[in-house]
Amino acid sequence: MTVAKAKGKSAQAAIHKKTTKAGTVYLYEPKPFVWAIRDDSNTHGGLFQTKLDAYRFVRSEFPARTKVIHIPSTPISREASSTQTRSAQSRTAIAKRQCHRIQRDPTMRRSAMKKDLKTTCQPHADIFEQKESSVQSYARSFPLLCNQARGAVICDKDGRKYLDFLAGAGSLNYGHNNPVLKEALVEYISSDGITHSLDLHTCAKEKFLHSFNDAILGPLQLDYKIQFTGPTGTNAVEAAIKIARKVTGRSTVISFTNGFHGVSLGSLALTGNSHFRGAAGLPLQGAVAMPYDKYLGPETDTLDYMETMLNDPASGLDHPAAVIVETVQGEGGLNAASFDWLRRLQAICNRQEILLIVDDIQAGCGRTGEFFSFTAAGITPDMVTMSKSISGFGLPMAVLLMKPEHDQWKPGEHNGTFRGNNHAFVTAAAALDHYWRTEDFAKAIVKKGELLESRLQEIFKLYPDEVVEIRGRGMMRGLRCKNPERAAAITAQAFKDGAIFERSGSHDEVIKFLMPLTIETAQLNQGLDILQQAFDTVINDKPCSRDARRSASRRTTGAVAESKVFAHPGQAEVI
Ligand SMILES: Cc1ncc(COP(=O)(O)O)c(C=O)c1O
Repeated sequence: MTVAKAKGKSAQAAIHKKTTKAGTVYLYEPKPFVWAIRDDSNTHGGLFQTKLDAYRFVRSEFPARTKVIHIPSTPISREASSTQTRSAQSRTAIAKRQCHRIQRDPTMRRSAMKKDLKTTCQPHADIFEQKESSVQSYARSFPLLCNQARGAVICDKDGRKYLDFLAGAGSLNYGHNNPVLKEALVEYISSDGITHSLDLHTCAKEKFLHSFNDAILGPLQLDYKIQFTGPTGTNAVEAAIKIARKVTGRSTVISFTNGFHGVSLGSLALTGNSHFRGAAGLPLQGAVAMPYDKYLGPETDTLDYMETMLNDPASGLDHPAAVIVETVQGEGGLNAASFDWLRRLQAICNRQEILLIVDDIQAGCGRTGEFFSFTAAGITPDMVTMSKSISGFGLPMAVLLMKPEHDQWKPGEHNGTFRGNNHAFVTAAAALDHYWRTEDFAKAIVKKGELLESRLQEIFKLYPDEVVEIRGRGMMRGLRCKNPERAAAITAQAFKDGAIFERSGSHDEVIKFLMPLTIETAQLNQGLDILQQAFDTVINDKPCSRDARRSASRRTTGAVAESKVFAHPGQAEVI
């Protein structure tokens, strides 16, 4: 955007004009602040929520000597505003879109901000760069200062809105701040419900156990004991392999290529990716990796290979205590095992007296269309690990489900301070009661999963030289790209255009779709429109055309952000 164009748009969108000594300032509406920008000869108005935004705009669009002066907003008279209401609304919408586009300019990304604004103000990024450990990762791909969120939309401090197809890496299956869950939690906190209790019995835990049993385990005729482990996924995995070793008296655990099970030492030994394994600082022990379904190509039966190894006393494979598997590998690139492969895996485990652990931390809680990802395959694991979306509200919580005969812990043998998060129990029970007492929610997931698949097929057909395959199941899908760098450029472009997509796979070559299951169909389409447009922009190596950008902006800032997201508290509901 040039200065001249900015001026033109400002004038067009203004609903009130104010002449100051410095020049003419255009006011858009009674906003907390209006900042005027003055260069050598002119003063230009701007709608900026904060002074920092005004500085960012100036640094990217105006010569270095440009000054920013603050002109406090002037309330528009009732009369003036009523005669101008309709046109003012549309002008305000134009101004907001313009502002949104301005804010998404790449020059305002963290690095650019840091360079340009050092001398004038302290951008928020500085404190993170100065004080937060360099281990941070998602913040590097998505440099935004998250502030509010609802449903499938996340909003930064400056009010910029993004469609969130990452959803807390799958821990927000029911969307951000789901109103049903929030209400239950607010009520619980307001009534001084227990927050911390060690593993004491609480009413919140009692309610969760009833809900989980009545809504999930009972109807599925699954007989599992429930262990509340430490609050993250890796804690549940640690508990699972520890009890499997204790029960069987063996130590080896078989995991699969491209599997991800956490980064604490026991679970890290089961995780395939060398990036994580390399940070262990110790030899990782007690695990053997076997090829996942189709890892060796469509023709090779990887279970034949595994069983041959198990049957041969000279294979070098110690007889394992357990096999741990993800039915769909989330971090590993959205590889989905076939149902037949999973059934045969269970049969081998049964024959060989090996415990089968399904790690449903990412693929569970409805992600693939049913509450558990393994029921569609007709298998019943000995143990199941769950975390991420089990609380439903993004609160830390993890559980290990195990067949009663495997619950051989002595009291306190696997202990800790945080073995049950009561706030998480409250939201988890609310989610189970609201979404899983009938089949409606599961049906809605299947339908949206089909829509997602058909939209991904379209992208696949449009860019056959870029997309190698579509992977996954239900609302857990991936687009595998030929070129990882191109995949990175596409997700970066989509982020600029207002949608958050993560990547996974051995080389981060798979664009991952992990949006809330409650996402509205319109939002799902909008996000995919943005992605498709990002493909176009990156592949054709051209900046997004003004018209295309405007239409994407209209889709995100217009349809999603303004009319829906924060206007109606219950908007994320789909059923
Ligand atoms: C399948 C699976 N298992 C285990 C974990 C580890 O969970 P956490 O990161 O909460 O420790 C993850 C995290 O992504 C996961 O996807």
